[in-house]
Amino acid sequence: MKERIAELRREIEEFGIDGEASLEQFRISFLSKKGLISALFDGFRNVPPDAKRETGQLLNDLKQLATDKYNEHRERLAMTETVQSSTDLSMPAIPFGEGTRHPISIVRNEIIDIFSRIGFTVSEGPEIEDDNHVFTLLNFASDHPARDMQDTFFIEKKSGTESDPHDVLLRTHTSSVQVRVMENQKPPIRTISPGRVFRNEAVSARAHCIFHQVEGLYVAENVSFADLKQTLLYFATELFGKEVRIRLRPSFFPFTEPSAEMDISCNICGGKGCNVCKGTGWLELLGCGMVDPNVLEACGIDSEKYTGYAFGMGIERATMLKYGVNDLRLYFENDIRFLNQFRTEIL
Ligand code: PHE
Repeated sequence: MKERIAELRREIEEFGIDGEASLEQFRISFLSKKGLISALFDGFRNVPPDAKRETGQLLNDLKQLATDKYNEHRERLAMTETVQSSTDLSMPAIPFGEGTRHPISIVRNEIIDIFSRIGFTVSEGPEIEDDNHVFTLLNFASDHPARDMQDTFFIEKKSGTESDPHDVLLRTHTSSVQVRVMENQKPPIRTISPGRVFRNEAVSARAHCIFHQVEGLYVAENVSFADLKQTLLYFATELFGKEVRIRLRPSFFPFTEPSAEMDISCNICGGKGCNVCKGTGWLELLGCGMVDPNVLEACGIDSEKYTGYAFGMGIERATMLKYGVNDLRLYFENDIRFLNQFRTEIL
């Protein structure tokens, strides 16, 4: 009997279980009513009385061994089964769409970065403004066409205080922020003001009723037009590359005198002339000039002591020149196929 028990122990230990079928085979062989262990229990009554105690213990241990092995394998099989039926680990992962920065944000951040490297701070102001900060203090004559309904979204006509009535409107440029800075700070002032601006325009590839600007202002003693020109050259080469050339054309703005518009050499044809630059080799980028003494005085700055320059550009325009995006509407439609093209930009 003892020998038979030892033999079965070995058989149980060596029995390979690798699936449902062999597990069931194991159960039938060892644990079923007609199995090998039951047969041994049946023979127990023939064991001599003095060996009963020891043999009984060995038999119980044998049965426990088989039961434990059976349970352990059954649990393991059940576990692998659920993993297999719910997940196919070889399937490709569900793609996780990563967001990208908007091209306008990329270029705005880059412009801020370029100017902050030469000491410009960033200033912000309200989008809902009054005509004082958008026009009057900037030397716009009361009959200037930019005050016309064609260009400006008016919110309220002549609200303000009784002694100082003014229209409430959406700012048409961020020059209004520069007025607020000059009212509140003493020179030297060196700041840029990025932000959203609004104009009453029909939406097309070349015009939009909302767009973004960055304007710059430097007011200190002995600021000259040469300083302006050098700063703009630095800016253009940082944003568009070392090869870029700039040129200034005389222009007019109510708040600067003299005023100019800056072109950059066409980065598509390198200045030779193509259909993007309409054969001229130049692309218009921004407006600039020396701050009109009337503006300095209106903002409480001594125009005998201080001079300043200012410039302003559309971020959509700068982005268009940098990336060749030729339809303003693309910036606002949020078409994922357009936005994804800027995936590799990190700024
Ligand atoms: N404010 C002008 C515009 O919106 C741009 C500009 C800023 C021009 C500063 C000259 C100086 O077009």
